Amino acid sequence: MSETLKYGNISSREAMELEERYGAHNYHPLPVVLAKGEGVFLWDPEGKRYYDFLSAYSAVNQGHCHPHIIKALCEQAHTLTLTSRAFYNNKLGEYEKFITEYFGYDMVLPMNSGAEGVETAMKLARKWAYNVKGVEDGNAIIIFAEGNFHGRTLAIVSASNDPVAYEGYGPYLPGIVRVPYNNVNALSEYLQKHGKNVAAFIVEPIQGEAGVFVPDDGYLKGCYEACKEHNVLFIADEIQSGIARTGKLLACDYENVRPDVLILGKAISGGVLPVSAVLADREIMLQIKPGQHGSTFGGFPLACVVAKAALEVVRDEKLAERAYDLGKYFRKELRNYEHPMIKLVRGRGLLNAIVVEPKDGKEAWDVCVMLKEKGLLCKPTHRHIIRLAPPLVISKEELDECVSIIKSVFETLR
Ligand SMILES: Cc1ncc(COP(=O)(O)O)c(C=O)c1O
Repeated sequence: MSETLKYGNISSREAMELEERYGAHNYHPLPVVLAKGEGVFLWDPEGKRYYDFLSAYSAVNQGHCHPHIIKALCEQAHTLTLTSRAFYNNKLGEYEKFITEYFGYDMVLPMNSGAEGVETAMKLARKWAYNVKGVEDGNAIIIFAEGNFHGRTLAIVSASNDPVAYEGYGPYLPGIVRVPYNNVNALSEYLQKHGKNVAAFIVEPIQGEAGVFVPDDGYLKGCYEACKEHNVLFIADEIQSGIARTGKLLACDYENVRPDVLILGKAISGGVLPVSAVLADREIMLQIKPGQHGSTFGGFPLACVVAKAALEVVRDEKLAERAYDLGKYFRKELRNYEHPMIKLVRGRGLLNAIVVEPKDGKEAWDVCVMLKEKGLLCKPTHRHIIRLAPPLVISKEELDECVSIIKSVFETLR
């Protein structure tokens, strides 16, 4: 093979063949191999540079390999990585103080993946329902919204109405119901009838995986109030929408809603380690007692140090404000651009999507492949939606270049 390699020791073709041959086929990646990342950029092994417009599904809000986070990672990696929660460690408490003050809650329960964060919140809600609300044992209900995406565990896919996510995995977890998204009345009506057994309503303030669905103004507030009326926990899954992505620290901040339980993941570590967190006040959090829940890695020293550094970057570099301003500009640029394939541009902050009208057999996937050829990486969600979510450290000039790339691809599709 004559290709010269710039990064690593195997070519793009070899890397794809290895994944195909030895890895489970539970993903369908775009045909690009990534070997290096810095800020808003990624490079393939042969040295071609790309703008990252996926940000690892909003995990890399701070940009790839942010020096402040990597410095913290390396220093701690040389000192102490994992001890397990059988003992105290000298980084966990400091991190817990930092993150609870940062988001304004009494306590945090640290986990690893986002799905584990959601599972934790579900378990916490059930404990609270039995211990505090007085729901009869075994009868607690958790309400989800149609079109949700909260992860991949059995409990979570039991709440999904996407056949790709749940089909073939039954029997499903009982005690779960769904109501339509963006419809306060549907939630209120259910609570009127069955509220006394309901532990919690779990909702994404913006549905990311479903295709960046931004609910109407007042939806979150209305749901929160309905929950309060029936003594039900309002739980926000801000794993994708949180940590500055949508132009505020939390997407719930747009409606001044303070969730009873807040679930965070992804960007909490700036894309460096799998870190998630469930935040709540004492009367909720203390329903889980020693030995009743946990994880070997949850709250490990390396994660604590990395997450603290990652949240410092969000605060010090004013990433929420950046996302707010740049997002507004980005949507304006795309909305002013008329094209028969662009049906709609929607989003908040730098979590945006183009809804595509297929033309001449070309769908969202084909547009993404063409964007990749021009040096911009994003991924379709469903067949007609392209999610556009660059790292929040992107500059206005870089964003302008990306707008030009996007337009140039659509120009070839007229
Ligand atoms: C809103 C939301 N919740 C939960 C998850 C699951 O997170 P993880 O993949 O880290 O388990 C995701 C992942 O995309 C998500 O977007």
